Amino acid sequence: TQHAERQRILDTLRLSREQLLEVKRRMGEEINRGLAKESHDQATVKMLPTYVRSTPDGTEHGDFLALDLGGTNFRVLLVRVRGGKRRSVEMHNKIYAIPQEAMQGTGEELFDHIVHCIADFLEYMGMKGASLPLGFTFSFPCHQNKLDQGILLKWTKGFKATGCEGEDVVCLLKDAIQRREEFDLDVVAVVNDTVGTMMTCGYEDPLCEVGLIVGTGTNACYMEEMQNVELVEGDEGRMCVNMEWGAFGDHGELDDFSTEFDRAVDDCATNPGKQRYEKMISGMYLGEIVRNVLLEFTAKGLLFRGKLSERLKTRGIFETKFLSQIESDRLALRQVRSILQHLGLTSSTCDDSILVKEVCSVVARRAAQLCGAGLAAVVDKIRQNRNLSELKITVGVDGTLYKLHPHFSSIMHETVRDLAPQCEVTFLQSEDGSGKGAALITAVACRIRDAGQ
Ligand code: BG6
Ligand code: GLC
Repeated sequence: TQHAERQRILDTLRLSREQLLEVKRRMGEEINRGLAKESHDQATVKMLPTYVRSTPDGTEHGDFLALDLGGTNFRVLLVRVRGGKRRSVEMHNKIYAIPQEAMQGTGEELFDHIVHCIADFLEYMGMKGASLPLGFTFSFPCHQNKLDQGILLKWTKGFKATGCEGEDVVCLLKDAIQRREEFDLDVVAVVNDTVGTMMTCGYEDPLCEVGLIVGTGTNACYMEEMQNVELVEGDEGRMCVNMEWGAFGDHGELDDFSTEFDRAVDDCATNPGKQRYEKMISGMYLGEIVRNVLLEFTAKGLLFRGKLSERLKTRGIFETKFLSQIESDRLALRQVRSILQHLGLTSSTCDDSILVKEVCSVVARRAAQLCGAGLAAVVDKIRQNRNLSELKITVGVDGTLYKLHPHFSSIMHETVRDLAPQCEVTFLQSEDGSGKGAALITAVACRIRDAGQ
């Protein structure tokens, strides 16, 4: 029957508890592989050292600039941090568009545009010519040998500006500042958005030692024992590690759980074969998975009366916000239908609306569970590091999918609770983005630098 055929297809997108436990186990394996010197090169999860050695303690102080590049919005921020008893953080920021040409043109064009935005911001704040220490939230995989360096390993999330991979983004930024000959900046820290988020949340909650992003892309970071961070000398204390977990699966670790729809999405991306875990979880790709499922249903005559519209064949029509809207509990089915109409899928019936909603829900649930399985591996790793039978820990979270989707967060939390029962995990949503955290990191680095002089 049609019903059975639909369910058979949807079942390929449903994961059992055993499968999720297996995802957790394999993530744990990749974590260890990425940390160890001898296996690091073969690991998909790169476990990149960040040179951030502690979470905030409230003594951070000063005025800083921050850049925040790599999510939905590009921001320039001024962050005023006051430490001590009356500690406070005051932030001013402006959002700028990154035009498609800048994302996909040359690196010089991209960085010239960034510097143009900084100049505009300084003028807007009445601070033209000021030279403040700057923290650069750059949300892509970077190799760091020190805090103020970030060699871009690979673009992700649809960025593809030429001439940047293999280069230090601090140099690219400084070169662009020199080309403009208008001001000078002291770039003190390159910070991944996960790390910025952990620090932002860590300012409110000292138990926050994990950062998680589920937005355009997905990734996590956490405080790892220095003795396990084999890529960096020294055994004392901890260092934050940027996992770059989005690349989990790039050596086939997820092949037995992924579907033809995932392969279709991967094939059409700017980075085929890369970021396979990210492509099953994050906002940039979920809508495309849904669209591919709908295409299959339609081709089989199970949806839209079997009529394949040009609209449905168009890449990118299903933005993440539609997924969130369609699944909203307050929404009546006729509103689902009107969203579909808005998408240009006009021939839809009531049954079509029910099915579309079910597809959205299955795809989002799988994403939340996969993400939860990964996070369960992380918190259990931290627990084992500390030889504890019970670990209490806070995860700082940011990202549009996590924040806007009506069910993602609760399914993810439930999965972590189920797969890592020895960890009591609190989730703290970042309201201030990762720029605040980047400024806190910059503050500490400036203090240490100034003390050494
Ligand atoms: C923001 C951070 O709050 O969250 C960004 O400041 C980050 O740096 C972003 O990339 C992630 O969310 P999204 O949904 O914009 O990709
Ligand atoms: C991508 C980037 C990673 C970032 C994540 C979330 O996975 O490679 O650095 O943290 O997106 O924005």
